[in-house]
Amino acid sequence: MKVDTEQILRALNASLNSRKLYPAGHPSVTVPARRLEELILDYLKESDKLIVGVVDGTIIVEDIPVDGSEEQFHDIIEHLRKNGVGAIIFMRGAGKEELSRLLDILTEDPPNAPDELEGKLRGKGVTHINLKLLPKEKKSFLEVHGDAVRTVKNAMDEVRMGKIPKSNEVKNVAKDLTEMIFTDSNAMMGLAMIKSYDEYLYNHSVNVSIFSISLGRFMSRDENELRIIGMASLLHDIGKTGVSEHIIRKPGNLSFEEWEKVKEHPVLGSRIAQRMEGIDSRVTTIIYEHHVRYDHSGYPSLKDTLHPLSLIVSIADAYDALTTLRVYQKPFQPVEAMKILNDLAGKHFDPSTVKAFEDMIGLYPVGTVVRLSSNEVGVVTKANTNASDRPVVKVIYDGSGSLLGKPYVADLTQKDFQTLTVVGTVDPLARNMDVGAFLAKEVTAEGR
Ligand SMILES: [Fe+2]
Ligand SMILES: [Fe+2]
Repeated sequence: MKVDTEQILRALNASLNSRKLYPAGHPSVTVPARRLEELILDYLKESDKLIVGVVDGTIIVEDIPVDGSEEQFHDIIEHLRKNGVGAIIFMRGAGKEELSRLLDILTEDPPNAPDELEGKLRGKGVTHINLKLLPKEKKSFLEVHGDAVRTVKNAMDEVRMGKIPKSNEVKNVAKDLTEMIFTDSNAMMGLAMIKSYDEYLYNHSVNVSIFSISLGRFMSRDENELRIIGMASLLHDIGKTGVSEHIIRKPGNLSFEEWEKVKEHPVLGSRIAQRMEGIDSRVTTIIYEHHVRYDHSGYPSLKDTLHPLSLIVSIADAYDALTTLRVYQKPFQPVEAMKILNDLAGKHFDPSTVKAFEDMIGLYPVGTVVRLSSNEVGVVTKANTNASDRPVVKVIYDGSGSLLGKPYVADLTQKDFQTLTVVGTVDPLARNMDVGAFLAKEVTAEGR
């Protein structure tokens, strides 16, 4: 390696590192930046470009791996990785301004989404530096779920601090969730059985998003609408940040005043969403309408007919709330929750949307604990659309009630299991089973 490229790396590393520690304009920032600029300009007098890349944690300059780069140039490696960049290509003509814009963008916290980097660079007038992005890593189902919960929490925390949440993050999560549901909606609905008691509101919002996107997809809504539904669901209860924690977590009946306060959350929420950048008006409409109910017996009062997408979200909202343990309610089994939704069809919920939801989740929805005719007990991991009474069951307890060392999968539509039938459902609480945790493990075990 030529000496000058090693010097360039040293200056680049120092420039990135100093920006973490010192404000712009501080000599520790400006000195290495100036040095970097001189070196690169010199280099580009002789060559028309300089490529600095990272492969497997090693820096590559002009196709040659740099020995010891991991220790010496740690900051370059870290910043490229954080931004999803595989290589920086400096081209002749890249001057002082462009270099400093590049350093600004690479050190932004939180880092930019990789597919926005290029646009950002161009927007700042950088035309002689190109970035080669790393191939996108596919996120696992659990990672997407975890990101979604974190994003809802962040959004709510921002509101509590008086800030307006960033719409981009919510948009990206809704997009990821939609993608995952297209890949395997059963696995995602299994994850929606993760019911966190402490982090209820965040998990609930994500679960509603999973159920409503799945239902929208089942009802052949287009992908753009699914993302709208997803975003609205993630934000549907954001107005609860304006209701005191004490009321939200109160075990007994609410007083009249307390109830009035709770009833404000759809209006408060839609106002918050309205102030978020670039939000589709349907998102705010859905937030506003999610408790209005089909027969308009809910809140707030509304003269117009409900938006069709609100009908979807309100069913997903009710289903998740019913199947979750709350301070004031033991959770209903999925089958029981479906029965309640059916009873309320035509009153609280649009009958045809309830019907679609029932067709989608099947007779024994993912997460239902069932007893088989062999007296074995297991958890439904997948509904069979053509045979709703014959789901795929992961058998956990043998016929005498002992925990199996190695649970096995019984797809009741398969020949091997044709003599087995579902004879009833079992209350997971009575067996001390955490179905959500079980299904999350399932998804991980299958590497999704
Ligand atoms: Fe709500
Ligand atoms: Fe809700």
